[in-house]
Amino acid sequence: MTGVSTDTREDHAVALDTASDAALRRDDFLIPPAVGGAFPLTAYFAGNSLGLQPRATRAELMADLDAWEEYGVHGHTDADRPWVSYHEQLRAPAARLVGAEPREVVIMNSLTVNLHLLLASFYRPTAIRHRIVIEDSAFPSDSYAVRSHVAFRGHDPETAVLRLRPRPGEDALRTEDIISTLNDHAHSIATVLLGGVNYLTGEVVDMPAITAAGHGIGATVGWDLAHAAGNIPLHLHDWDVDFAAWCSYKYLNAGPGALSGAFVHASHLGNPAIPRLEGWWSTDPASRFEMLPVSTPQLSADAWSVSNPPIFSMGPVRTSLEIFDAVGMDAIRSRSLRLTGYLRALLMTIADRCDMAIVTPEADDRHGAQLSVRVSTDVGDLVERMSSNWGVVADDRRPDIVRFAPASLYCTFHDCWRAADALSQELTGEGIA
Ligand SMILES: Cc1ncc(COP(=O)(O)O)c(C=O)c1O
Repeated sequence: MTGVSTDTREDHAVALDTASDAALRRDDFLIPPAVGGAFPLTAYFAGNSLGLQPRATRAELMADLDAWEEYGVHGHTDADRPWVSYHEQLRAPAARLVGAEPREVVIMNSLTVNLHLLLASFYRPTAIRHRIVIEDSAFPSDSYAVRSHVAFRGHDPETAVLRLRPRPGEDALRTEDIISTLNDHAHSIATVLLGGVNYLTGEVVDMPAITAAGHGIGATVGWDLAHAAGNIPLHLHDWDVDFAAWCSYKYLNAGPGALSGAFVHASHLGNPAIPRLEGWWSTDPASRFEMLPVSTPQLSADAWSVSNPPIFSMGPVRTSLEIFDAVGMDAIRSRSLRLTGYLRALLMTIADRCDMAIVTPEADDRHGAQLSVRVSTDVGDLVERMSSNWGVVADDRRPDIVRFAPASLYCTFHDCWRAADALSQELTGEGIA
């Protein structure tokens, strides 16, 4: 933990918020009103599920609607931000966000669709080497995706999907255990696809070490960065990651169902040995409108894009990336460690008084902006009561986890205090102080 305080007084939380912090951009966001409690606005801790709306998003969307009104079909070329190349504007800031070269990144589709497109290229099973490794607690969509892929290639999902489980009595995976599983099954593993930050426990895994270990056994390595993008600094190019995808609706605040990002390492671009599923947006833009029957693949991650992009979904991503560019991931991470450390210290004082445990690892390099708490009460009911009685929005993952995401850009120390106070009130009948 970094700079942790165990002072549980509300005044102290308020005082912590007086220090200026470049990563706090609360005024740039629309904070939902509270349905209950003493404060007009919610203390919002569900940004790892759906981030809040930046104030600038509405104008961005309106500008794109105005362009459609004014230009009709000519908006493809004549709009202030021509639609035909709109996605180009997202490439560089998205690349900065995940530590990539611009040509390695494309914003397109939604997350699971991108995982499918990337698996189509990077999961190349043979009779012997046909397994995909995921976490046992992978987000269900990833589990369904990899099971469907192995079945699609004629393998049995029950044996071809290798699920990593923590040691008995532990919640988080250990890097050394992941690597030893890879080594134990070295000849049968084709692909490793893990979450960089686990959605349930908030655990950050050692992406460079696991990527290197996967390559060491001859597997391709991809990352689901849904809970990592905008949460922790990433260096996908330097880590030699083969492929990755993330959504933009959690820490990136680009709205429900927002577009996904996809990363393909430069070393794979233009490699004719790697097949792709293609459409007209995969081909070189210079000859796209020559209506040729055979594509000319682009030497960028765009080669994996299939359809023309949904322009009205691009503006919110643009707004989001502008904020991340302006603040920078290092400042976001630094504030995140302070907020999360403070919230952890407060929650620990509740754990001393009731049946509750924090399952998210404590070391700075093992967690992002999320604390997952295991409780022995009905989590759906608990989350509902925290909202209706105290105006604190967290979320539950059944059967027994409540997740709190102190998002750097808009959560305050006082929000953390409110979250701990609400949890304490609901679990022990007493406040935090
Ligand atoms: C880790 C993870 N993977 C995949 C998904 C599925 O995302 P989508 O519905 O955008 O495909 C989610 C959604 O929350 C997620 O958290």
